[in-house]
Amino acid sequence: MKIIAGYSSVNLTHAVCKMLDTKPVLPTYKRFSDGEISVDIAQKDIQDDACLLIHSLSEPVNETIIALLLTINALKQSGAKKIVVCLPYLAYTRQTAASLITSLIDAAGAHKCITIDPHTTIRNAIIPIDALSTAQLFADHIKATHNLQNLVIVAPDQGGVERCKHVRDALELTSSLACIDKIRVDGLCTVQAVHGDVLGKRCVIVDDIIDTGTTLCNAAEALIQNGALEVFAYCTHGVLSGGALDRVKQSPIMNLVITNTIAPKIEIIKTPKIEILNITLILTNHLQKNRYTD
Ligand code: R5P
Repeated sequence: MKIIAGYSSVNLTHAVCKMLDTKPVLPTYKRFSDGEISVDIAQKDIQDDACLLIHSLSEPVNETIIALLLTINALKQSGAKKIVVCLPYLAYTRQTAASLITSLIDAAGAHKCITIDPHTTIRNAIIPIDALSTAQLFADHIKATHNLQNLVIVAPDQGGVERCKHVRDALELTSSLACIDKIRVDGLCTVQAVHGDVLGKRCVIVDDIIDTGTTLCNAAEALIQNGALEVFAYCTHGVLSGGALDRVKQSPIMNLVITNTIAPKIEIIKTPKIEILNITLILTNHLQKNRYTD
C-alpha cells in the first residue's frame, strides 16, 4: 500500500511511514492566481496500487476539504487501484451536514474512510467509516500522571457521556461520572448545573473537540465553584480557534492534553499548559491489522 501525505498532515504521514518502514508519496500542490488548487501525483508513484491518503480536515476547513477531494481525484486519475482516506480530524461532524462531506469523499472516488473520535456516528454515510478511539491513549496517560484515588471523569455536556464512559472503563474505574448541564444559545454555551459528586475531587474533563474553548473553560470554572480540588482536561482534536488559547491560559484548567490529529501550531506547542499526545501508534496498529489492499 502506498501512503500519501495530504498537505494538512505531512508530519503525521512521515511519522506513520517511519513506523511502517516505508516512504510517503508527496503530491504536488499548486495554486492558480484566483485561489484554485491543482494537485498532481505522478502515475509511476501509485499506478495499480492501493493508496492511503492521510489528510486531516483542519483550518482553513473548507479549503482543506476541496484539497482533499482534488487529491482523491488526482489519485484516481493516476490509476490508484483502491483509495482509503484517513481523516484524523473529520470536520463537520457536529452538524447533520457531515453526511454531505462523506458523500463528497465517496463521489470523488475514495472507497473507505478512517477517522478518530468523530463527534457522532455519521448517519447515512455511503462510504464505510472505521472510527478509531483515543480512550486507551487517554486512559494510559491519566494512569501515568494522576493518582486514581479521588479522581472523577467529567463529561462537559450530555453528548460527551458515552465518550467519558469509554475512558473510565479503560481506566477500570467503577466511580460514577460527573456531567455538566450545558446549553448553547446563539453559539454561546452556559453552564446550568453540575451533576455528580465533585466536592474535593480531582476532575478530569474528557471531550472530543476543543474549538473556542468555551465549553471546556466554562465547565472548569463550574467544577471549581462546586468545590473541585483541581481540573484537568483531555480533548482529542485541538481545533483551538478564535481566542481559545487565551481562554485556556486564563482558565482554572491545570493541564490540557490534546492530540496531533490536527497538526499543532507553534503557539500551541509553546503553551506550557498544553500537552500533545501522538496518535501515530493508534493509526499504525489499525493499519497493520487492516491492510486495505483488496
Ligand atoms: C460539542 O458538543 C463538542 O463535543 C465540543 O464540546 C464543542 O465542539 C467544543 O466547542 P467549543 O470549544 O467552541 O466550546
